Amino acid sequence: MNQHLQSVLHPAGWDAAVISQFAWVLFGAGALILAAVMALLFLSLRRRERPARALLWIGGGGIAFPVVVLTALLGWSTWRSAQLAPQTSRDALTISVTAKMWWWEVRYHDPATGRDIVTANEIHIPTGRAVYLGLNSADVIHSLWVPALAGKRDMVPGRVTGLNLRADKPGIYRGQCAEFCGAQHAKMALHVVAHLPQDFDAWLARQAQPALAADNTILERGRSAFLEQRCQACHTIRGVAEGARLGPDLTHVGSRMHIGAGVLRTHRENLSGWIADPQASKPGVFMPGSPDLDRATLDALATYLEHLK
Ligand code: CUA
Repeated sequence: MNQHLQSVLHPAGWDAAVISQFAWVLFGAGALILAAVMALLFLSLRRRERPARALLWIGGGGIAFPVVVLTALLGWSTWRSAQLAPQTSRDALTISVTAKMWWWEVRYHDPATGRDIVTANEIHIPTGRAVYLGLNSADVIHSLWVPALAGKRDMVPGRVTGLNLRADKPGIYRGQCAEFCGAQHAKMALHVVAHLPQDFDAWLARQAQPALAADNTILERGRSAFLEQRCQACHTIRGVAEGARLGPDLTHVGSRMHIGAGVLRTHRENLSGWIADPQASKPGVFMPGSPDLDRATLDALATYLEHLK
């Protein structure tokens, strides 16, 4: 799938296009004015005598010009801001996102069963449809920002905020926590994955399924290791061990692009390295390491998790 730049200047949604226009107009106006002021400064330094009508220059350049320019920019930006999409959950697909130190829990409501479908660090959405993200935080203030799609919105403990997203084209849009939230703020990435509507429906139906069965000896060994190591104290695997919400839901962890909120690609070696010593990739992360786990068990556990597509 097409991977888009994490950039305000490469918008791929309605709000992002408005915001990117702000950036260009403000930068352009600022650059023009800076160039004009520098040119005037250069001219004034070259001449010795006091210019004629100095008061007119001061009054015109120092008062009238900024008043006119700033009023015009204020009027234009107020008019343009009013064209940003209304922040409402009405007629939108609602997804709730909870920020945690330092990852994102993503919940969908399954209309078929009434249950929640939980995933992490990836927000899958259909294209061409308004999506409303209900945002909150489990610990400190975070901020969700996917610059190619929309503005940023703070996520405040004890309060639900909201952000509307809309992607015009399928693709992967990288985002980032935009509010300093502790040691691993920088490694708190997320990806919005926009699918054509029918592909989105298929994705959601797959995610609604319980975890794939462990149907061979290695997978069975990995599944047992998960339980013996008490991974279920923090992680849920639907159909195996449920209820824990401290760490990401792993029911379909193998289907996700990354582990550790954008830190490592999801494949077997990265999974076993992460389980043995997560601090090596993300110092300060709350997941404890398993330095004493033997190689074969670690490999089986990683194979089992990778298999959970
Ligand atoms: Cu979460 Cu910065």
